[in-house]
Amino acid sequence: MFFQDVVSEKMPLSRMSRILFRVISRLVQPRWSQDGQFSISNVSLLVLDLSAEHYPTHALDVLPCLACFPSILTNFLYDFYTNVILVNMTTPQQLVWFITGTTSTLGFGAHLVSTALSRGDLVIATGRSQEKLDKLLEKHGRTDNLRVLQLDVTSSPDIVKDVVNQAVAFWGRIDVAVNNAGNGELGLIEETDTSAMRRQFETNLFGPVEVMKAILPHMRPRRSGTIVVLGSRSIWIGETPGLVHYSASKAALHAMAEGLASEVSHLGIRVLLLAPGAFRTDIYSNSPFHQDNFISDYDDLRAACTKRFAGIAGHEPGDPVKAMEALVDVVRGEGVAVGKKWPEPGTSLLLGNDAERDFYKRFEKLKAAVSEWTDVVRGMWYPDNAI
Ligand SMILES: NC(=O)c1ccc[n+]([C@@H]2O[C@H](COP(=O)([O-])OP(=O)(O)OC[C@H]3O[C@@H](n4cnc5c(N)ncnc54)[C@H](OP(=O)(O)O)[C@@H]3O)[C@@H](O)[C@H]2O)c1
Repeated sequence: MFFQDVVSEKMPLSRMSRILFRVISRLVQPRWSQDGQFSISNVSLLVLDLSAEHYPTHALDVLPCLACFPSILTNFLYDFYTNVILVNMTTPQQLVWFITGTTSTLGFGAHLVSTALSRGDLVIATGRSQEKLDKLLEKHGRTDNLRVLQLDVTSSPDIVKDVVNQAVAFWGRIDVAVNNAGNGELGLIEETDTSAMRRQFETNLFGPVEVMKAILPHMRPRRSGTIVVLGSRSIWIGETPGLVHYSASKAALHAMAEGLASEVSHLGIRVLLLAPGAFRTDIYSNSPFHQDNFISDYDDLRAACTKRFAGIAGHEPGDPVKAMEALVDVVRGEGVAVGKKWPEPGTSLLLGNDAERDFYKRFEKLKAAVSEWTDVVRGMWYPDNAI
């Protein structure tokens, strides 16, 4: 963020220098205290990291600030020039996005392609249908900044890896991987064939897992990258009849993304878990309501569910364009994200008033249930472990 300010000349050099000194001190301290020698590899990493964190700068912008610290500068100026500047001078701040599920006309994925391209970024858009991908290319005037690859996220791990490798070959890296592909398998649990639940998890959980496992080997060596996961506020309304297959898969996806965030943060890789409310995409048109085994006891409930779901499509309050603009802002540290902390592992970025409302409702409900049952909750431990 501060490099962005320097470039736009909003931040005085003195403040920039103080911040930079703190960062450098933190990074190089262990090396100094061990043998009194200064290791430039730390600083190379620092500068490259800043580049990878998408601050619109290159090493030359940093150099005047380093001049404030002559002892550091004299120790590594030569290496700094040869090893760092050359790399950064040839690396403009243009992110490479890899996005799954970009082929539905109104979907988050298609909007994200447009938004990322409009910021000058490079996009690899993937989708199940080559015909739809060709249409996407047409829509964007077959710009060089957009490449497409066919990918069904439920394909075998080898196919997923192959597609990711092809994607990396386009521009040499993937900076941001967006696990967007998803759908809903609606229906009441007892009336729906279990295969629907399995399919739901294949698309919404195992697909993203395979995509991430294929992409991480490319991000780890660079100690840089952002993984975006499209979760859902449905995890806080799991009690909604008919939505269970979907909300269960998204709950598992949330847990997976939260764990992943902790596992890869030390590698310089960030995970952004989004929890959107209802947005006006094609999702409800693409989500079948299963009625595999009719059970008359569910007649009224089934009728209420189908009526409710049929009434949602086209009336969702959320604007997907706004959501994707916000996503790009957050990833780039621009616009709505300026001055905000990256959502920590264990949290998600809620999108939409309905997401916020449902989150707090669930939170209050859980709190009330814990209070009601406190004596039972707290009556389980061995006496020597009492809080
Ligand atoms: N819209 C909402 O209210 C909302 C809320 C919370 C979370 N989300 C999540 O946001 C993501 C995007 O959904 P959306 O709302 O934009 O819905 P959408 O308009 O229906 O788009 C979903 C996209 O995912 C693709 N897809 C589905 N299964 C796939 C597979 N196996 N492999 C590759 N692509 C696949 C679809 O491809 P085809 O074009 O081939 O059908 C489509 O392009 C989903 O993960 C969804 O769960 C949506």
